[in-house]
Amino acid sequence: MITVIHTINELRTHIKNYRDENKNAQIGLIPTMGALHKGHASLITKSAQTCSLSIVSVFVNPTQFGVNEDFSKYPRTLEKDIEVAKEAGANIIFAPSAEEMYGKGYSKDFITLVCPPYDLVNKLCGKTRTGHFDGVATVVSKLFNIVQPDYAFFGQKDAQQLYIIEKMVKDLNFNIKIIPCPIVREDSGLAISSRNQYLSEKEKEYASSLFKSLSAIEKYYKQGIKNTKALFDTAISMLAKEAQLEYLDFIDYENFEKTDIIKGRTLIAICAIIGSTRLIDNIVLE
Ligand code: PAJ
Repeated sequence: MITVIHTINELRTHIKNYRDENKNAQIGLIPTMGALHKGHASLITKSAQTCSLSIVSVFVNPTQFGVNEDFSKYPRTLEKDIEVAKEAGANIIFAPSAEEMYGKGYSKDFITLVCPPYDLVNKLCGKTRTGHFDGVATVVSKLFNIVQPDYAFFGQKDAQQLYIIEKMVKDLNFNIKIIPCPIVREDSGLAISSRNQYLSEKEKEYASSLFKSLSAIEKYYKQGIKNTKALFDTAISMLAKEAQLEYLDFIDYENFEKTDIIKGRTLIAICAIIGSTRLIDNIVLE
């Protein structure tokens, strides 16, 4: 059984009753923007294995989209999402309207925003998506306050987002354990994304070269090459010429800064535009 809830009040009442009736309740939250696929399902399944109640939020959050981004064309498929979430083990879908979340006639200039530190947003996706992570941190904080889960599940697919959320939880003392979940891929290696449905079959082939580039880096790193310039050049030679590279950066997890030499745990993140679709992927080297 899955319950679909559209309002904050109803969700809060439901959770309060559940906690009153279940003394050892463990609540898991899986924030999503819908168009659920196997990647989202893996987060939901992980929550269902860890928690007694799993809540999936489905909300295409307007405050994290830039003016020229795909907010209006972003896929909205609630009926199908309910099926996918149910199948993966969710108990509740929370699907509020923008008005419910931000108030009637809200403006991003007149709501309290949660702004992650500049040093975390001035790189990778934050460089071109100005204000994006303010929107993400704000909506995730709101969801954390509304649901007050014990656990929240995020994908490594959005590595910068995950890092920022973990920092936010620490800085703002949210009493929530963040569970990172591995990237789910197609057989071709292409990281599954709601935006893949914008791609034609041919474009999907080009898109799979993002992971091929990252895999080449991993291979050469394992052979002893630690200089990121050399690894960068190798990766670029594997990237389809139809893919327009936005960034391919090597980030030291220690301080989330770019690094020239791979020393410790390192994030290698790529972003490329294929046709008009912007795709991201990453691997982590230890
Ligand atoms: P969305 O893109 O819908 O992703 C929801 C969650 O699913 C994120 O934690 C994301 O990292 C994870 N995810 C997406 N594709 C994945 C894949 N192939 N493998 C594993 N996990 C995957 O990220 C957002 O929504 C929003 O920014 C949100 C956090 C909901 C705030 O609005």
